[in-house]
Amino acid sequence: MSASVPLRLESVSKSFGDVQALKPLSLHVRAGEMLALLGPSGCGKTTTLRIIAGFEMPETGSVFIGERDVTELPPNKRALGMVFQNYSLFPHMTVAENIAFGLKMRGVGAADRLARVRQMLGLVRLAQFEDRSVHQLSGGQQQRVALARSLVTDPAILLLDEPLGALDKNLRERMQFELREIQRRLGITSILVTHDQEEALTMSDRVAVMSEGEIVQIGTPTEVYERPRTRFVSEFLGTANIFEGIVKGEAGAGEWTVALDRGGEARLAGDSGLATGRRVSFAVRPERLRIGPPSGSALMAKVQDVVFRGSYYAYELVVAGQDEPVFIYTQSRATVPADGMVGLSWSAQSAILLGERPSP
Ligand SMILES: Nc1ncnc2c1ncn2[C@@H]1O[C@H](COP(=O)(O)OP(=O)(O)OP(=O)(O)O)[C@@H](O)[C@H]1O
Ligand SMILES: [Mg+2]
Repeated sequence: MSASVPLRLESVSKSFGDVQALKPLSLHVRAGEMLALLGPSGCGKTTTLRIIAGFEMPETGSVFIGERDVTELPPNKRALGMVFQNYSLFPHMTVAENIAFGLKMRGVGAADRLARVRQMLGLVRLAQFEDRSVHQLSGGQQQRVALARSLVTDPAILLLDEPLGALDKNLRERMQFELREIQRRLGITSILVTHDQEEALTMSDRVAVMSEGEIVQIGTPTEVYERPRTRFVSEFLGTANIFEGIVKGEAGAGEWTVALDRGGEARLAGDSGLATGRRVSFAVRPERLRIGPPSGSALMAKVQDVVFRGSYYAYELVVAGQDEPVFIYTQSRATVPADGMVGLSWSAQSAILLGERPSP
């Protein structure tokens, strides 16, 4: 097994005709870490991977694997393993032949190939499938073959582009754990491309959130979820209730009082001073909002709907005069009076100050 190496992109950019797929983008993936590239369709995730792999030449910038500048190297000289959404296995070959392919290309002898293939089959738990034809495998099994095939040459970097995208929800969740376990065990520096925020949060050490060819925030799953810096990040990483208002003044203990546009007042905790009179917007996650009696709450709202989602209740509420509903998730059912009117509150710590002015 090779030692873990870091991967670095320095000001890499790429255009296709008029479309600037990547603005100059820099990224440092630490040795042994699993980094998720998360973002909506068309934001440049695959383009980033293709540049790392050497299938696309960047217009500006460089790619480093370890200390080595690989920008000019062809794909087969970069010591990479790759897995894509559409397995791209060789349909006329057995499982073992598929996995052995990369070794054969490198001129590894038959006995060594077999030993290595068996090692890989053990790793992805497919030992008994060695001689099966790949079209006799389930989607999840095929994806494991694809993973084994990408790891057999002992690459320094593993690139995964929506590797679980074609699987149904249950299998997908199981494979997320399995893939993560294998990645940890090998300590291989990996990039996982996904547009599924849950997948990014559960599988990676850090998440880089992309939008329109740029990385807009990078951090641990907890950081990007709990402390998104912009409205885009807060909404992309899950449901977010956005509130706006004007700072009324300091309330002590690093907290500020905000007069909400939706009516009422709320507290906001900020790490830096907030000027009185400043317009702010902030997000509160649905699981951080509380339904309570109208007195002593920040806002009054009317319960419109409640649905049971298996492990929690989701409430949809409306604040008088506001179009956008407020969502609340709770473990147990709330007490709602006959007229549906309840108070909403949250702790100052759960209010996430957003850096960007909301679009009008
Ligand atoms: N070969 C190409 N020719 C022209 N435009 C391209 C090409 N490849 C990508 N693009 C454009 O570059 C932008 C980024 O594409 P990319 O495939 O990197 O997005 P993505 O984030 O992987 O999206 P998805 O989640 O849909 O896979 C898009 O606007 C896309 O249309
Ligand atoms: Mg893509």
